[in-house]
Amino acid sequence: MKTQQLGRTGVEVSKLCLGAMYFGSRNDTETSHRILDQYIEAGGTFIDTANIYAMWVQGFQGGESETLLGKWMRERGNRNNLFIASKVGFDYQDVPIGLSARLIEEECNKSLRRMNIETIDLFYAHTDDRATPLEETLEAFDRLVKAGKVRFVGASNYRAWRLERARWISETKGYAQYCCVQQRHTYLPLRPGASSGRQVVANADLQDYCQDSGTTLLAYSALLSGAYTREDRPLPDEYRSPDNETRLAALRAVAKEIGATPNQVILCWMMQSSPSVLPLIAASTEAQLAENIGALAFELSAEQMERLNTAGTN
Ligand SMILES: NC(=O)c1ccc[n+]([C@@H]2O[C@H](COP(=O)([O-])OP(=O)(O)OC[C@H]3O[C@@H](n4cnc5c(N)ncnc54)[C@H](OP(=O)(O)O)[C@@H]3O)[C@@H](O)[C@H]2O)c1
Repeated sequence: MKTQQLGRTGVEVSKLCLGAMYFGSRNDTETSHRILDQYIEAGGTFIDTANIYAMWVQGFQGGESETLLGKWMRERGNRNNLFIASKVGFDYQDVPIGLSARLIEEECNKSLRRMNIETIDLFYAHTDDRATPLEETLEAFDRLVKAGKVRFVGASNYRAWRLERARWISETKGYAQYCCVQQRHTYLPLRPGASSGRQVVANADLQDYCQDSGTTLLAYSALLSGAYTREDRPLPDEYRSPDNETRLAALRAVAKEIGATPNQVILCWMMQSSPSVLPLIAASTEAQLAENIGALAFELSAEQMERLNTAGTN
């Protein structure tokens, strides 16, 4: 699988990161192992999880995804070939939302235990916490890096100005810097005025910041749970608008021209839109994963990129 540098770390990671959110909960062990093995066979090494995955699925409480990954890595003996990302910051079980120093350290230790590994390659602040001074949060992450429990740190669901403030504090104090940001990002923009709740969308400001600062932008929910192509997954209400109908038509037209699926065109469009963007993909069947990884085989022309970019904006 193609690779790209993660931020300015000097480390190369897979061009498509595999989301493990539902492994061990909605996706049973056998399915999860099959998808993980398929991703590895395709040359992928970058896997994304979080302490809370997937506490909102009925019958589960969080921690299941990390536990499943730990067992799978142990069975396959492949931990050293992988780049594992996890996150801290959202509430689950008896853990409150937030990024206090104590919480960051405790949750890191729990994640390490659940995955049965010594170091998390990339540890994210899963959400911003404006009640805790950024200095405290960044110092806590830095301590984990110095202790060897974490290699790199990233942010998720942050605004661009908060990332810049964090960068400035880390640089001034000599702390490890957020090398990437993980944000909600897909081909369709939200309808004006629509909310995405606690999930922060990668707006133009953030994308500009990422390009300028060399921060990698990891895009989650890129395929809107399959809504671009599946009749059983209606387009979420916050994405419904006449302009987005025009964009969908452009997407389908380009897909037809190059013999790709609309999902593949979205992933291609994202990767070509900026060298700093790296999509997360997720799947519960082998066919879905094969389709998503298949996006790497396509290339959009400058004219097709222009058409996709301008559709629904006039
Ligand atoms: N930082 C954050 O706040 C945050 C938030 C959300 C997600 N994430 C991360 O991002 C990853 C991906 O997020 P997501 O699940 O929201 O991504 P997504 O791409 O919007 O949805 C993935 C789901 O779409 C369906 N799908 C995938 N490929 C398909 C295809 N080719 N054709 C038809 N349907 C397809 C599958 O649904 P079914 O399994 O139901 O078939 C799959 O589970 C997560 O695993 C997690 O690691 C992070």
